[in-house]
Amino acid sequence: MNNESHGRLTKDGIRIYDPATDFPGMHAAGRLAATILDDIAPHVKVGQTTDEIDRIITDMVDAAGATSATIGYKGYQHASCISVNHVVCHGIPGPKTLKDGDILNIDVTVIVDGWYGDTSRMYVAGRLPRKAERLIEVTHDALMKGIEVVKPGNTFGDIGHAIQTFVESHRMSVVRDFCGHGLGRVFHAPPNVLHYGRPGTGAVLEEGMLFTIEPMVNLGRPETKTLADDWTAVTRDKSLSAQFEHSVGVTADGFEIFTLSPAGKFHPTY
Ligand code: MF3
Ligand code: CO
Ligand code: CO
Repeated sequence: MNNESHGRLTKDGIRIYDPATDFPGMHAAGRLAATILDDIAPHVKVGQTTDEIDRIITDMVDAAGATSATIGYKGYQHASCISVNHVVCHGIPGPKTLKDGDILNIDVTVIVDGWYGDTSRMYVAGRLPRKAERLIEVTHDALMKGIEVVKPGNTFGDIGHAIQTFVESHRMSVVRDFCGHGLGRVFHAPPNVLHYGRPGTGAVLEEGMLFTIEPMVNLGRPETKTLADDWTAVTRDKSLSAQFEHSVGVTADGFEIFTLSPAGKFHPTY
């Protein structure tokens, strides 16, 4: 079954899926991605390399009979992105070992029966420093504030506004250079889901839309730069950065989150 056989496109080019027949596939894909993030938690520890964490994730995807969406994506070669401390996103797993107090985002996208599940959350190696704890808490809560306004008739600007005002009220900044995205039978599709914005602007949400919300929040300024490897995005001012991501669907009266943690481990203070 190809993508075109699923639903229709809005005037903004956003695909409308069928909640009854399509959301179960999204639940299965999202559940696997979230389960992998649950099960990787005990492997995040001082002395561990991000390479080794990625290898374990690769094995988990294989063991589930699923496919990694990131291996081979635009030349990317890993089953996860692991972004440590001032890395904003798209950190490449490597031989560096984690040290006490490092915070990291692990982002996993899997394909199950053609459906994409994309989620990320924060971890700590060793003891969580106080400032990092605040950043992680605010970033998590910002994602949930964005999700809470997801319902038919609201706009994508409403989502961005909810996230931005919450983050800035805590004197932290929202990264502008990366955004969430539509997904479903494809990894990245319209719309760009901005994590800042004005109420009432942008495309109107409709039942059957599928997309991610994945705010990146910095303790310092919002600007990023991409390293020479063409993937790793870091804060320009070297300040700490955090991110959480869920894959969601718009229902008749609100939203469904496909990537909830089966073990209840999504929240940083689990
Ligand atoms: N999972 C990321 C996202 O949230 C995309 C990673 S693409 C990769 O959209 F190639 F860097 F893995
Ligand atoms: Co994403
Ligand atoms: Co992701």
